[in-house]
Amino acid sequence: MKNTIRKAIIPAAGFGTRFLPAAKSQPKEMLPIVDTPTIQYVVEEAVAAGIRDILMVIGKSKRAIEEHFDRNFELEKELEEKGKVGDLAAIRHISSMANIHFVWQKELRGLGDAILCGRDHMGREPFAVLLGDTLIDAKTPVTKQLLAGYERYHESVCALEEVPREKVSRYGVIKGTRMQDGLYLVEDFVEKPSVAEAPSNLAIAGRYVFTPEIFDYIEKTTPGKNGEIQITDAMRLMVRDRAMYGLRFEGTRYDIGNKLDFLRTNIIYALKRKDLAKDLHAFLRQLVAEHK
Ligand code: G1P
Repeated sequence: MKNTIRKAIIPAAGFGTRFLPAAKSQPKEMLPIVDTPTIQYVVEEAVAAGIRDILMVIGKSKRAIEEHFDRNFELEKELEEKGKVGDLAAIRHISSMANIHFVWQKELRGLGDAILCGRDHMGREPFAVLLGDTLIDAKTPVTKQLLAGYERYHESVCALEEVPREKVSRYGVIKGTRMQDGLYLVEDFVEKPSVAEAPSNLAIAGRYVFTPEIFDYIEKTTPGKNGEIQITDAMRLMVRDRAMYGLRFEGTRYDIGNKLDFLRTNIIYALKRKDLAKDLHAFLRQLVAEHK
């Protein structure tokens, strides 16, 4: 079947205030999980879903992201001369896997506003949005799962995860009716509700597919939580006019937006690596024994 979603937006303009001092002069999206910048995992997920046209919404001090996805001829030459074939292929892959474009969010007015910066580039096509502070490890990349959900109704779909009740206020939460194959028909979206207000414990998990009409709704959205233009509030407006869906994806989500989760994710990803797992495991066992 032809892939009708060809484009994605990756918002990456935020200051990274939860990652200071590391994020003072380098983008938080470049902080590595093991040896790979977090934003590279996110791009790889989009590419694995057949998306090759990626728009990154960036802000100040984000040059390193541009350089990471550009070719580095000097480095390639050096690796070639040293016969480091594996590293060379990996480096070339970064700059060739997708066509990456950049647009600047001039004022940090929230996630909805960041997505609106992609309007011209997305045109009248449906598109995916992948948030860079979330990695999702899944047999079928979660963006690919969402595309399959989109293909069914040709309406917007967001990834959903059940979270413990007491954590709902960290997320956008839906009110919806369960259909089949993990799909929910959504009636309402609420950004960061209190535990008492939350209509469910189904949280929006940082991956979306939108029909282009979402831009009209973002334009109508007034500042919400934290005084920001929230994408969840735009979705709330849109769902009054047209069907929108949620998908309980298959896979494991790793939040990397705060220091503790970032450290956990690093350890988990390192333990998945053949070249590191054995030694790291031994080290962790020793560490735990010493701290008992
Ligand atoms: C954003 C969204 C929220 C979503 C979350 C997922 O919040 O606004 O709806 O549940 O990402 O990570 P943020 O984490 O940027 O505060």
